[in-house]
Amino acid sequence: MRALTVTPQHAGTAALTDLPEPTPAEGELLVEGIALGICGTDREIIEGRYGWAPPGRDRLVLGHESLGRVRRAPAGADLAEGDLVVGVVRRPDPVPCGACARGEFDMCRNGRYTERGIKERDGYGSELWTVETDYAVKLDPRLERVGMLLEPTSVVAKAWEQVDRVGARSWYAPQTALVTGAGPIGLLAALLGVQRGLDVHVLDLVSDGPKPAAVAALGATYHSQPLADLTEKLRPDLVIEATGVGRVVVDAMNGTAAYGIVCLTGVSSGGRTIPVDAGATNRDLVLENDVVVGSVNANLRHYAAAADALAAADPDWLERLITRRVPLSRFAEALIPRPDDIKTVLTLD
Ligand code: BGC
Repeated sequence: MRALTVTPQHAGTAALTDLPEPTPAEGELLVEGIALGICGTDREIIEGRYGWAPPGRDRLVLGHESLGRVRRAPAGADLAEGDLVVGVVRRPDPVPCGACARGEFDMCRNGRYTERGIKERDGYGSELWTVETDYAVKLDPRLERVGMLLEPTSVVAKAWEQVDRVGARSWYAPQTALVTGAGPIGLLAALLGVQRGLDVHVLDLVSDGPKPAAVAALGATYHSQPLADLTEKLRPDLVIEATGVGRVVVDAMNGTAAYGIVCLTGVSSGGRTIPVDAGATNRDLVLENDVVVGSVNANLRHYAAAADALAAADPDWLERLITRRVPLSRFAEALIPRPDDIKTVLTLD
């Protein structure tokens, strides 16, 4: 079978490799891959800046935004042949730390967690893959064309949970949410914000194309202007930051209403410095009881919340986020971003 593999930490090594068909271990499903979403992390791995092969190996099967159909399920499993499934990305560390021991592997404390397609475990970028039934999430059959959005949605469901939990320190009734960045994470964050009945605003650099149209179709408001100008008018109760751009992060921290929450989801590359009035930012955070919280990955609770959010969304709106579908054989095309891309998907079937 064909698989998309890479030698992590070595740029330009992505290739289609012929691998033997996997045999499911006890308690595992055998799954036919339907599609694979490509994200910034995949591009970083391909550029040699992130990623780790399984121990004792050079190459890693890429892919963590999965979607497949069960070909064979173990007897007594809740999943059956034909079910639409997504594989969870992270596995707990082997120690395990206190968080991993409680199923909160997204909050791992010792960094020894593993991640499919990213860190020491093969990913889902192959025509057939296996997954433990406990780490497979069943999807509504209507999500066949868009189910690879589940993993990024799980990341966003966790971010919203962080906002709720931080907000619960005191009386909390947010009304205005700002999302910075209209990529897949930003747009899915906006979707969940609208589903919560918030007045959602989305900021991005572009002024036309599919991003403003997707925001409008959601009933949210799109903006393309300097963030500091927008927050002065809007004074959002919370910001979901999905660009990872240093200036945007700092302006978001300075721009919330009192008791503001900024949830950071963008992984920045680092290495660039910007001038920051740290004293003024500190003063603002202290005097307003503001919180800045980082959020990465997702546990099973967030995948379940994400599956509900996708099932409740308009499938046509979700389709808008998938701006390119490229067959696995032409994977190299999918890896080069184009200006109007939102989510590029590799098709595996
Ligand atoms: C994935 C997360 C993962 C993170 C860091 C992201 O692209 O969506 O599941 O934890 O990368 O490896």
